[in-house]
Amino acid sequence: MNALMLSEYKQLTIEDLPVPGCGPTEALVQVAACGICGSDVHGYDGSSGRRIPPLVMGHEAAGIVAAIGSEVRSVSPGDRVTFDSTVYCARCEFCLRGEVNLCGDRQVIGVSCGDYRRAGAFAEYIAVPEYILYKLPASLSFADAAMLEAVSVALHAVKLAQVKGGETALVIGAGMIGLLILQAARVAGCSRVYVADVDATRLKLAAALGADETLHASEADLIGEVLRLTDGRGVDVVFEAVGRQETVATAIDCARKAGTVTLVGNIAAQVSVPLQRIVTRQIRLQGSCASAGEYPEAMELVSGGKIKVAPLISAIAPLHDGPQWFARLYAHEPNLMKVILDPREPDPRRPDPREPNSREPGQSQ
Ligand SMILES: NC(=O)c1ccc[n+]([C@@H]2O[C@H](COP(=O)([O-])OP(=O)(O)OC[C@H]3O[C@@H](n4cnc5c(N)ncnc54)[C@H](O)[C@@H]3O)[C@@H](O)[C@H]2O)c1
Ligand SMILES: [Zn+2]
Ligand SMILES: [Zn+2]
Repeated sequence: MNALMLSEYKQLTIEDLPVPGCGPTEALVQVAACGICGSDVHGYDGSSGRRIPPLVMGHEAAGIVAAIGSEVRSVSPGDRVTFDSTVYCARCEFCLRGEVNLCGDRQVIGVSCGDYRRAGAFAEYIAVPEYILYKLPASLSFADAAMLEAVSVALHAVKLAQVKGGETALVIGAGMIGLLILQAARVAGCSRVYVADVDATRLKLAAALGADETLHASEADLIGEVLRLTDGRGVDVVFEAVGRQETVATAIDCARKAGTVTLVGNIAAQVSVPLQRIVTRQIRLQGSCASAGEYPEAMELVSGGKIKVAPLISAIAPLHDGPQWFARLYAHEPNLMKVILDPREPDPRRPDPREPNSREPGQSQ
């Protein structure tokens, strides 16, 4: 089978690999879409230490069940499926509480970090355990399904913020994750959602996706602006979706007394925080990691149109074009968000099924 192999840092090649074997509790999935995640781009040059070559990356995927192991009952060959990016042990105290994202034996598909190496979905086939598979509703395209991992991250963050309805919210960072948090916060009932970013194009997208106000983080006094919008109070919930010193500090400054700051971004390994402000204003800092059981809800919200993912997809391209797309993402080409690779060989007798969806960055969605 064709696979996109990270053979050395910053070196991706298409290689011919054997189709993986399928254990008794696994399904073999023919991959039809796999998104390039920011973490793949950060792993590509070795800076994150989580994509040690040689490795087939890719954990945001969907496809068709090609074969099943002898003990698999919930899916059959031909089923359209997606799968969670996390493979967990299902036995530890965290797994037993449903906090599978915190599992001590957690492995992420398409990651190689020294402790483990697990082949990913930038390949024609991948074998995955049955218990992480979800059948796709007919209304969800494979490309939209490849966005469910990121949607689940956003839903998890909003869940941990304990939004009950009626809150004012600020999302800092209008990237992939921030724009999904914006929509998830809306779904959870936040009455007003403000979005801040340094990139005007991203803010335009935020406005189109339902932000009540978009705030340019580097031009204006962001904290002053947020205080003005909230009668000097600050917002009830802040979602930090950048992960840098300055944005974490701003997030804390924009929260009201006894408000919540949910930390999702984590570019910086360490930041310093205004301790006395957090303590005296009784602010709750809440970390949020990946997702734990949000896939079904993500599928429902995306297929029902309550969370829109199509505007975040910049391009759908054949797996063979993967090396160029990685290079473009790595070079921070403007206006590029999610790029999805499709490893299926186009059938020469029929029009390419990718065609209607094929988009180049910058074109209207
Ligand atoms: N906790 C988790 O489970 C989880 C999952 C996925 C991603 N992440 C993290 O979330 C963060 C966002 O990921 P993404 O995929 O959306 O990235 P992204 O690159 O698509 O978006 C980041 C956004 O932040 C904006 N930004 C940069 N500096 C800023 C500043 N000073 N003020 C305001 N905005 C600024 C950028 O313009 C961009 O729009 C990253 O740190 C990523 O590692 C966390
Ligand atoms: Zn991802
Ligand atoms: Zn576990």
